[in-house]
Amino acid sequence: MIPHSKPTIAQDDVEAVTKVLQSGMIAQGEMVAKFEKRFAHFIGKKHAIACSSGTSALHLALLGLDISSNDEVILPSYVCSSPYLASMYTGAIPRIADIDPLDFNISAESVKKLKSSRSEAVIVPHMFGTPAEIEEIEENGIPIVEDCAQSIGAEYRGKRVGGFGDVSVFSFYATKMITTGEGGMLLTDDVDIYERARELRDYDQKPLTPPKYNYKMTDLQAALGISQLSKLESFIDRRKELASVYTEELSMCEIELPRTSTHKKSTFYRYVIMVSELEKHRDAVMKRGIVCEKPVFLPLHRSIPDCQCPHSDEVYARALSIPIYPSLSIEDAKYVAHSLCEVLTGAGT
Ligand SMILES: Cc1ncc(COP(=O)(O)O)c(C=O)c1O
Repeated sequence: MIPHSKPTIAQDDVEAVTKVLQSGMIAQGEMVAKFEKRFAHFIGKKHAIACSSGTSALHLALLGLDISSNDEVILPSYVCSSPYLASMYTGAIPRIADIDPLDFNISAESVKKLKSSRSEAVIVPHMFGTPAEIEEIEENGIPIVEDCAQSIGAEYRGKRVGGFGDVSVFSFYATKMITTGEGGMLLTDDVDIYERARELRDYDQKPLTPPKYNYKMTDLQAALGISQLSKLESFIDRRKELASVYTEELSMCEIELPRTSTHKKSTFYRYVIMVSELEKHRDAVMKRGIVCEKPVFLPLHRSIPDCQCPHSDEVYARALSIPIYPSLSIEDAKYVAHSLCEVLTGAGT
């Protein structure tokens, strides 16, 4: 079976974690501080807060921006539920924006339509490793939380994503660009946001109000994170190599492939093709031992009464994510491509 996604763990990762285990200091400590420093430097931001997940980093980012119950937070429909839930945790009202059907990211036009006097933040996920039109979205003047959970290392006009927003967040879930098992990071240049969010990350020996959380990362995770970060560039290169194999092989059978733009460098966290009969095609490749997935479980607006996002619906009906991860062999990628060609052209259904 060729899985849809897979973490890339090598012996040096195992050794890094083992060393911390043997040290006896396994909760949040020196390794977390080191990981924060290295990660902030890699993206190009001043302050970092390592967290237990991307979702807890998103929650702290919104609290850092002082978001509370009368505020509105704009976020896209075509994303997992994490940004929606993080907004709900603060008591704010999530406003759901549509996407650009060409790059699957929140559209600047849709943000503009939703903007009101209560808009206090817009969450901008860079989906599938491809940067959103972040500079156009910035023009709305609403504070930005860049959600780089899927796009660590991607670039927009030569600058790494995560370097744009008032706050940016990252996820290190098992199958993300780099992993700590579960984990997240918040970055900002703003010292007030940093201090507010950092104060809320843990509760011990602090006043009862405002409520604090236990959103800490452990040194075990941070050691893995440091080791993984040192390999990120090679992971990205490998994903790009696999993406070119797919592009070359699949373009021969007229499959609608991911769009590219000269001002964006994707990391190919996902390789998403558009198909006409999603379930049928997914089942047919599954019979050949290949796991393909819908890249978003269910667009958010589908669970919200009277909320329309036609572009999100259109993409959801046709988008299929095919296996891509650094340990996938070129041979397997070619097998995936050939199987898809046969299935999608009707030669092997
Ligand atoms: C775009 C996006 N934002 C946020 C998250 C949440 O990250 P985590 O699973 O680490 O809480 C994810 C994770 O899947 C994601 O893909």
